[in-house]
This record gives sequence, C-alpha cells and structure tokens, in this order.
Amino acid sequence: MRKSDDVKIIVALDYSCAETAILMAKQLDPGKCHLKIGKELFTRCGPAIVEQTRALGFEVFLDLKFHDIPNTCAQAVRAAAELGVWMVNVHASGGRAMMMAAREALEKVSGARPLLIGVTVLTSLESRDLEELGFAERSTPLVARLATLTESCGLDGVVCSPQEVKLLREQRNKDFLLVTPGIRPQTAEADDQKRIMTPAEAVRQGSSYLVIGRPITQSRTPLLALDNIISSMAI
Ligand code: C5P
Repeated sequence: MRKSDDVKIIVALDYSCAETAILMAKQLDPGKCHLKIGKELFTRCGPAIVEQTRALGFEVFLDLKFHDIPNTCAQAVRAAAELGVWMVNVHASGGRAMMMAAREALEKVSGARPLLIGVTVLTSLESRDLEELGFAERSTPLVARLATLTESCGLDGVVCSPQEVKLLREQRNKDFLLVTPGIRPQTAEADDQKRIMTPAEAVRQGSSYLVIGRPITQSRTPLLALDNIISSMAI
C-alpha cells in the first residue's frame, strides 16, 4: 500500500477523448503530479486510458465513486485494483457493509493495493437538497459523521471540500487522507467552483492531496502552472 508520498497534486483529466487527455498528460510530469480519471473519460475510453496514463509513469486516481450493494461494489473496486490504479473511491453513504466489503476485496489483491477513499457529501448538495433526500443533519455534521464511518470501516481517507478540512483534520488520525477539490491558486479564475481555497492554505489546514483541473489543464503552459502551484505551497 502507498499511503503517502511527496506528490500532493492530482490533476483532473476532465476530457471527452483519449487523444486530448494523453496530450495533456504528456505535458505534465509524473514526478510532480498524479492524474485523476473520472466518469466521462473512463466511460468513453475504458480501461485503455488508465493503461496509457500509467504507461507514461503516472499514478492514477480512478474517480468513479462506486455506490452499490456490497458484493457489486467490492468487485468493482477489485477490478480497479487489477487495473493498477493508485487510488479509487466509493460513496460513504453506501454504508458500512459496502465499504467493508470494498476494503476486504482489496486485501485479496496481490501487490500494492490502491488507496480506498470515501466520498462524504457531494459539495453540489445544499441544505434543502439534503432535507429533500430525508437527511436530518446539515452538511457539515453529516460530512463529519460519514468521515467517522469511513475511517471505522478501515478506508484510507475521504474526499471533502477544503472548508471541511480543518474540522476533519482535528477529529481524525493524522494518517487519514483528506483529498480536496475546489482549489484555486490566488491568480486563477474560480470557474464554476463556489467555495475555493488556495493550495497553500488547504495544505496548511491539513489537506493531504489537492485535486486541481482547469488552473493547470486550461493553462497555455500546464507544467509551468503546476510548478507555480507547487512553489506556492512551499512558502
Ligand atoms: O477544474 P477544477 O479544478 O474545478 O476540477 C476539479 C475536479 O474535482 C473536477 O474533476 C471535479 O469533477 C472534481 N470535484 C469537484 N468537487 C467535488 C468533487 C469532485 O470539483 N466536490
């Protein structure tokens, strides 16, 4: 298992075709970032895109947010592990039995197992959405509850918003990974992200990995943008 490393940035390859995604990956450096492959790219390109990015030397976070009955979820996580991904995630709201089944499936995988991460509450859900879904708690206590459940099921960490990092870091074991999107360097556009934080501040508050897309991938000089973010984190 690879629990932590010096590379803190995960670049989101949010593309609809393999050619563009690979062109971007080739402009980056696997010594400086990992890559995130999400639902669109994976659904269009399949496991080949994982193989191609791994062949370039990158560690891959397969962001498919599995959520199903325990057996199905466990088999999906196992399939991801057999693809050689470095990180994979499941919805914590799938419950204890599902998360434990996923965790146990990884114990049977030979070689380094991927990090298994829980998704707490989607940041797109507002209080009224949670209420409509029947959740009695507001977002922050619900995130804390799901993070506790995730940890108790033996998962390696959670995806959370940067605004939740401080609270979760205070409550958790220091090895518990906090993976945060919604990161913007001081000079970048917010795009459609509502609540953003700079890379330096997110790391200062206890974020383990920063998921960053457009500030790097829409830059005319992606590697320079990545280097500038890394330097800003060292200050
Ligand atoms: O381009 P940007 O930096 O906004 O990309 C952030 C990435 O993190 C995207 O792939 C997005 O889907 C993902 N993400 C997010 N907010 C969440 C969960 C995932 O922005 N709550």
